[in-house]
Amino acid sequence: MEQYIIKGGKPLQGEVCIGGAKNAALGILAAAVMTDDVVTIENLPDVSDVNVLLQAIEEIGATVRRKDKHTVEICGKTINNVSVEYEFIKKIRASYYLLGALLGKYKEADVALPGGCDIGSRPIDQHIKGFKALGTNVDLSEGMIKAKAEKLVGSHIYLDVVSVGATINIMMVAALSEGNTILENAAKEPHIVDVANFLNSMGANIKGAGTDVIRIKGVEKLHGTTYSIVPDQIEAGTFMFAAAATNGDVIVKNVIPKHLESLSAKLVEIGCTVEEYDEAVRVIATNKKVATQVNTMPYPGFPTDMQPQMAVVLSTCEGTSIVTENIFENRFKYVDELSRMGANIKVEANVAIITGVNGLKGSYVSAPDLRAGAALVIAGMMAQGYTIVEDIKYIQRGYEDFEVKLRGLGASIEKVSDDKEIQKFKLKMA
Ligand code: EPZ
Repeated sequence: MEQYIIKGGKPLQGEVCIGGAKNAALGILAAAVMTDDVVTIENLPDVSDVNVLLQAIEEIGATVRRKDKHTVEICGKTINNVSVEYEFIKKIRASYYLLGALLGKYKEADVALPGGCDIGSRPIDQHIKGFKALGTNVDLSEGMIKAKAEKLVGSHIYLDVVSVGATINIMMVAALSEGNTILENAAKEPHIVDVANFLNSMGANIKGAGTDVIRIKGVEKLHGTTYSIVPDQIEAGTFMFAAAATNGDVIVKNVIPKHLESLSAKLVEIGCTVEEYDEAVRVIATNKKVATQVNTMPYPGFPTDMQPQMAVVLSTCEGTSIVTENIFENRFKYVDELSRMGANIKVEANVAIITGVNGLKGSYVSAPDLRAGAALVIAGMMAQGYTIVEDIKYIQRGYEDFEVKLRGLGASIEKVSDDKEIQKFKLKMA
């Protein structure tokens, strides 16, 4: 099983280039099958979640041609099956975006019901509410979601919960429904805007994405396009926080600073300097960082996908910090691992109380999920001594060449798969 081995204690310095947004790519790849023309998608992140969804898209009969590591051509003309197997949903929940895409295009789709996952129960009741409002019969049986519509007609839909997935899935179905759809209490994340822009580049008529009211005027059909995916705000934030955690000085390039405002604000609150450029941000950390409070909220609030990384930075900030997780019910599983590295964190319900310590010590830790795994790598880089992070398959779901990019900033980190390689790394570092 592959692991990361890290020798901590070195400030990160230099420049890192951010890739395309995983959570925009997953919606866009699914939406790409909604036309029979060829669609070319650029700036695609080469991460396992994207590669699994491409396999699912091929499995239903679409043609998928990888032109290079970051560019793929998809054509939905040859789709011969509207049923998405459980094996893909089990690997990545976001395969359920094919439900919205196929339902919008063929008026029917069968997708395995996604289970819960490492960060919570992850219900999809709002997705189903939207599909039904647009005229779909939804049958949940034998672990499948069977969706079928005689006719898809626009509707006025009010989401009970701000949901990224439901917003994207409903937007796709509404794009090919007759008449107008108003989607209220919609999610406003940058990846929602990117999926809406992508659909509009295929001939859809979607207005208001990025606000909490999205208006969709259904069209007959969609056509091919070439589209480049927006930079990944969470990958960017992860590197910004790695710079802060290691008292470094890092320029994060190929970003949209506006998408990072809630993150930059927190870094300034704890005493870092953040300089914004057109397509880059620079984080200059001080080694005298102070505590603060964080509440995870839907965009433009502080993103839940940056909560573990924030907690790691706060673990050595002077004073007592409070991190409240308002989106998912089980997103503090990394705290036990971090405590083994010397952090002083108490979790009560959805609140983590963090008392800053002078420093962390390297240890064996295991990644409980994607973002917590990245946070533990950051902890390893700020800790004294060696840290081994196990279960790095979670991290590879959403970070392309993570250890390569970190090494480019001066980190001592390598991917290893056995004790021999661990010893070799330690000898090299001695
Ligand atoms: C997306 O998940 C992201 N995944 C998550 O990123 C991210 O944490 C989350 O949005 C919030 O920003 C992808 O985009 C592939 P939600 P999603 O629907 O769409 C509740 C990562 O690390 N809810 O916005 O599943 C839900 O339980 C991943 O990249 C319902 O109650 O999240 C949660 O409490 C982790 N009913 C809240 O809404 C529903 O029908 C927000 O969930 C849907 C959601």
